[in-house]
Amino acid sequence: MTSESSGECFVYITLPGATEPVTCGRFELSVNRHGVPEGRFVYGRSYLARQDAVPIDPVDLRLTDRTSTTNALNGVFGALRDASPDHWGRRVIQRHLGQAQPGELTYLLHAPDDRAGALGFGLNATPPAPKRSFNQTLALAALQATADAVVADDERPVDSMTEQVVNLLLVGTSMGGARPKAVVEDEAGLWVAKFNLATDAWNSARVEHAMLMLARRCGLTTADSRVVEVGGRDVLLVRRFDREKVPDGYLRARMVSALTMLRAEDTFQSRDRWSYVQLAEELRRACSEPRANAAELFRRMCFNALISNTDDHPRNHALIARGRDWQLSPAYDLTPAVPVRIERRDLAMACGDAGRFANAGNLMSQHMRFLLQRDEAQHLIDEMEAQVRSTWFATAREAGVSPADCNRIAGAFAYESFRQTPSPAL
Ligand SMILES: Nc1ncnc2c1ncn2[C@@H]1O[C@H](COP(=O)(O)OP(=O)(O)OP(=O)(O)O)[C@@H](O)[C@H]1O
Ligand SMILES: [Mg+2]
Repeated sequence: MTSESSGECFVYITLPGATEPVTCGRFELSVNRHGVPEGRFVYGRSYLARQDAVPIDPVDLRLTDRTSTTNALNGVFGALRDASPDHWGRRVIQRHLGQAQPGELTYLLHAPDDRAGALGFGLNATPPAPKRSFNQTLALAALQATADAVVADDERPVDSMTEQVVNLLLVGTSMGGARPKAVVEDEAGLWVAKFNLATDAWNSARVEHAMLMLARRCGLTTADSRVVEVGGRDVLLVRRFDREKVPDGYLRARMVSALTMLRAEDTFQSRDRWSYVQLAEELRRACSEPRANAAELFRRMCFNALISNTDDHPRNHALIARGRDWQLSPAYDLTPAVPVRIERRDLAMACGDAGRFANAGNLMSQHMRFLLQRDEAQHLIDEMEAQVRSTWFATAREAGVSPADCNRIAGAFAYESFRQTPSPAL
């Protein structure tokens, strides 16, 4: 492990109702005597003494003065990993630092403080003042051009991009995901800007916008979105649901991914833990309104099956807490896929007795775990299937998806085997 991956930092949190962070604990990363990375987290005494103290996640890091230890996830607790950059952000930070493999602590400390959720990290016992200025939507053209440069040419020497331009793009690196993105502000608040890639099979910005609209029409709670044209190209803006603009700054919601809720990793070996059914159990334990949240998750799982969103991995689901209570976050990152196989489609997470099979019978098989009676669950699926079948095209056109792109995605919706009876072998 490199020196940057061992060390320690302070963890800050912006409490419910507040716009300034406070220090909540200390995180230490080291290598144990077996050569395995080990993370240790402890809440500060003064934080524990606060009336308004809240735990940083709903599963592992309960409010206690005992030190928590983990050897999973390279020693980075799930809630901290969720606040750390993912593929895209790591790529920009590597460029910025000129290092091929910075350590986990370096990623945590170098990502600017606009990360998802309410946490922050630093080397001082006292947190810095919150970030007050963000890239404005006007900067989107420069951001898009810089993102293109990072995507197009990973090999170029670091100094070939001006520091100013990289700094521009660094804002937003602590949001996760693989697609090039940036965080921008307008008078309404903060947005995640997602850029189209030259390699996209269709206009992703418009198609994702359409899927969020379609999801709302199917009764799901979703992130708000809009598409703007920048330099002749479309950019998707998704309004951040973990931030709320108030007169003296931003309120921040705590946020953890389903990966953390499932105590799972991104790796292939960990995939047997990726499960909607298991997530429903965890949600029921963590949320103050288990029935509403479990039903919302059921809808989301069915919607993903109906639009063949096979990229519905556990980082594409999250729990948020705007106050003390946790709830499923609004849906985001909804994208259809058109796999070659028409007889079977698999979601990224198990959704019933027949595993990941995106099929009505399979989705129904564990309805009780979502606290739904058989006829309620059946009714939801029937209703959503009818909605998707009859309105996906009009919704896509309304969102500005071209007729050619509609053709390209047509195979994704309520595909043939959605209603096939699963064979026992599946
Ligand atoms: N509207 C939002 N408000 C707050 N956080 C969000 C929002 N949308 C996305 N996020 C966070 O940012 C991360 C990346 O966003 P998103 O999943 O849309 O990007 P992506 O690059 O398309 O992801 P993937 O790698 O799954 O394709 C999400 O995992 C989530 O943590
Ligand atoms: Mg994603």
